[in-house]
Amino acid sequence: MAEGEAPFMSEVFRPYERLVEITILGKTFLVPERNSLLRAFQFISPETIPYGRFCWNQECQYCRVNCQLSDDDQARPILSCKFIVSEGMHISDLAPELVGCLRTKLGQAQVAIVDAPADPNAISGADVPSVASAPSGPNGSNGTNGIHDHDE
Ligand code: FES
Repeated sequence: MAEGEAPFMSEVFRPYERLVEITILGKTFLVPERNSLLRAFQFISPETIPYGRFCWNQECQYCRVNCQLSDDDQARPILSCKFIVSEGMHISDLAPELVGCLRTKLGQAQVAIVDAPADPNAISGADVPSVASAPSGPNGSNGTNGIHDHDE
């Protein structure tokens, strides 16, 4: 790939066979299964998410959302770079960085901003599948395809 050339969309996503339905602030989207929620956000908004201030490795907290899974009783805070998207996820609040990146896709939806956590370790979801050990880098399968070049 030439210097400065954006990778094809398919290069940044884990292989998937179907799209799953999730809801963000009441608006429904179809996103690729087997990918992190943050990658799903990138699928929805490829022109903004790669340029957000996301670390993609569970450190910055800029990807935090309140999310209720289809079998949960209530929403809980999760890191979208950590958790695999699943059918029926209902996202009720977004961190400010995500609000900025998804604003145009969400349109007139009422955007609620998640406050910074007093204790980052308080984020729940240990029983939810994680991509923490995935070999992917910030931009895709091996981290070398160069969309997300922030060193923050
Ligand atoms: S992108 Fe930094 S914690 Fe998820």
